[in-house]
Amino acid sequence: MLIHRRPGWSIPEREATPEAVVLARRGLLGGVGAIAMAGPAAAQWRLFGGDAPPQQDLKPLPAPHNDRYAPGRELTPEKDSTTYNNFYEFGSEKSVAGAAQALVVDPWSIELAGMVAKPRSIALEDLLKQVHLEERVYRHRCVEAWAMTVPWTGFPMAELVKLAEPTSSAKYLRFTTLMDRKTMPGLTQSWYPWPYIEGVTLAEATNELAFLSVGMYGKIVPRQDGAPIRVTLPWKYGFKSAKSIVKVEFTDQRPVSYWQQLQDSEYGFWANVNPEVPHPRWSQAEERLLGSNEMVKTKIWNGYGDYVAALYDGLKNERLFA
Ligand code: MTE
Repeated sequence: MLIHRRPGWSIPEREATPEAVVLARRGLLGGVGAIAMAGPAAAQWRLFGGDAPPQQDLKPLPAPHNDRYAPGRELTPEKDSTTYNNFYEFGSEKSVAGAAQALVVDPWSIELAGMVAKPRSIALEDLLKQVHLEERVYRHRCVEAWAMTVPWTGFPMAELVKLAEPTSSAKYLRFTTLMDRKTMPGLTQSWYPWPYIEGVTLAEATNELAFLSVGMYGKIVPRQDGAPIRVTLPWKYGFKSAKSIVKVEFTDQRPVSYWQQLQDSEYGFWANVNPEVPHPRWSQAEERLLGSNEMVKTKIWNGYGDYVAALYDGLKNERLFA
């Protein structure tokens, strides 16, 4: 077993978090001491997270297991992957699980919009009757250099694309996630460009790996992990995997994501995993596994090159990895 060590590039968690970008740009963060001077907003962050793991009644969600994507590493213990989250709508700490229990997940519907045969809203329960649920284990690699390995239950994104019937002009999918001021305290941080937006090309969305998850560890997906339905794109940095999606728009314009709006030079559109391309503020060569804290080498495309590398042939002039 590898021993956890802090490599030379390692930086405090708070500095690695994308929110440090915003604060740095606004002159609010000049080091740990400066956080105290950031005023009421800084104080609020501490209030958002819940210390105790949430008590949730997560219903079982059985589905056939698909072992085509064997992860080659141990599953992350459920308690670790469900208590160390990025969900900025509920706060910018990792301990948002408690606050996220306020998320109202029923009823839930998704708007299919833009360049589709019939723009419409579809209730989640109706959508789930028209797709094939399965369980897959995927590796997840956050841009902050931590990683987890999770059994997701969901369905291929290609099935949603088929149901939506995009027109021949559609080139991209633009995901919009829930923005509910009543339940999401993070939305009071008005310098963030809410709502959380993400996007992929149609070719990426119809790649066999692209997945929409409604379950995790054999149960419905917990609120803090993006209930009731989230995007899962295992070859890309985790910020591409938008949580709690309410709208999928088909468009011929490349979507500008939430993090791109904040700092395009650090969080680009493609954001494919590559250990050779460092983030401007830290190395991407290694990753820390949630749970064991082992440091392991990061693989290009997060190890999924056989499935996805060909998607990017002919795109060599694009900034594919940052
Ligand atoms: N989706 C929304 N709506 N809001 C977020 O803040 N954070 C992203 C992504 N999806 C985020 C989001 C980031 S940075 C990561 S790494 C993953 O969710 C984290 O997923 P997890 O908390 O289930 O591990």
